[in-house]
Amino acid sequence: MTKEPTILSIETSLDDTCAAVTRGTRVISSVVSSQTRYHAEWGGTVPDIARRLHHEWLPKVVDLAMRKAGFKFENCKLKNENCVTAIAVTVGPGLAPSLEQGIAYAKELAEKWSLPLIAANHMEGHLLSSFATPNTKITRSRTRYATYPALGFLISGGHTELVLMRGIGDYELIGETLDDAAGEAYDKVGRMLQLGYPGGPIVAELAKVGTPKYHLPEPMTTRKDLNFSFSGLKTQVRYFLEREKPELTKEFVADFAASFQVAVFKHLMKRFRRAIDLYSPEMILLGGGVVSNVALRTLTRAVAKECGIPTFIPYTKKLFTDNAAMIGVAAYHQYLRGDFANPATIDRLPNLNFPKASVQPSPVASNT
Ligand code: KG4
Ligand code: ZN
Repeated sequence: MTKEPTILSIETSLDDTCAAVTRGTRVISSVVSSQTRYHAEWGGTVPDIARRLHHEWLPKVVDLAMRKAGFKFENCKLKNENCVTAIAVTVGPGLAPSLEQGIAYAKELAEKWSLPLIAANHMEGHLLSSFATPNTKITRSRTRYATYPALGFLISGGHTELVLMRGIGDYELIGETLDDAAGEAYDKVGRMLQLGYPGGPIVAELAKVGTPKYHLPEPMTTRKDLNFSFSGLKTQVRYFLEREKPELTKEFVADFAASFQVAVFKHLMKRFRRAIDLYSPEMILLGGGVVSNVALRTLTRAVAKECGIPTFIPYTKKLFTDNAAMIGVAAYHQYLRGDFANPATIDRLPNLNFPKASVQPSPVASNT
């Protein structure tokens, strides 16, 4: 039997039903079953639909992840090479009805097969997603190249966060959104431009061919802290569209998408650069669905490079958006620390977050 623990992970924090088998940081299989088309007509995740579909799909998704990995739960009794050593599940942050389904099924499996249970943090999954490695013989652990402190920049549909990481398991939240997350703003602007759901990838695609002709104000220019805000920008977009009543031609939408993206990037990069100046990180870790945006990745890397800091991103774009393999990587490190959950008390934590930094930079404007 190998020394590395093999973990079956379940992730149902929002509207993707996900399961993965990982050994150490190696991704052996990862299955993501997207519910997007069931929520699309409502323009956002409908909790009742998400709960029902997670419940219905989880056994099939877990079974597929196990089969793709060539694993069987029955092997747990034989304690042979092709068995899992633990079950991990996302307990938060996320939508309570969605989290509950994943937790209930993980508990059921852990009990049935007498396996230890690990309660994982979805945001730690995004943060450590860059440490996941493909399942090849020559793959070396990416954690070997890690140097601390690291700065995690997590940009997703539910969160926009800057995390100071002094080592694996040692995190401090140094910046977060005060209202909407970046991905949420993309999705809402996508909806205003009648682009369908989720709008983020479509807005990003159109921005590639558009010219940023329209002025949309960069958020919070007078605040000198590390927090984000996107709801004001979203409101400006709505005002503009209501006032100007433009015809939503392909050309207009592309130019407008590019203009919106410029404002978003300016805001993100200003905070990112400020965090680098304040905390002098040794490396950058990027994670979250919005990191799928190539232009954003290019810009982030350029800023980090200018400061002489290497940037790590997941080895495949499938690890940017929600998935269970990233949960497996976080759970692996919890396993090594002996951080197991009590099946009798494990519960969903919809508002789970990293501990906040005790000292925050002043939000007051200054000339520096
Ligand atoms: O991390 P994720 O899969 O789910 C959350 O944990 O929220 O992120 C999903 C978000 C959605 O808001 C989606 O529109 C956005 O990521 N997104 C993008 C792009 N691809 C996905 N936003 C901007 N540009 C993209 N290329
Ligand atoms: Zn996520």
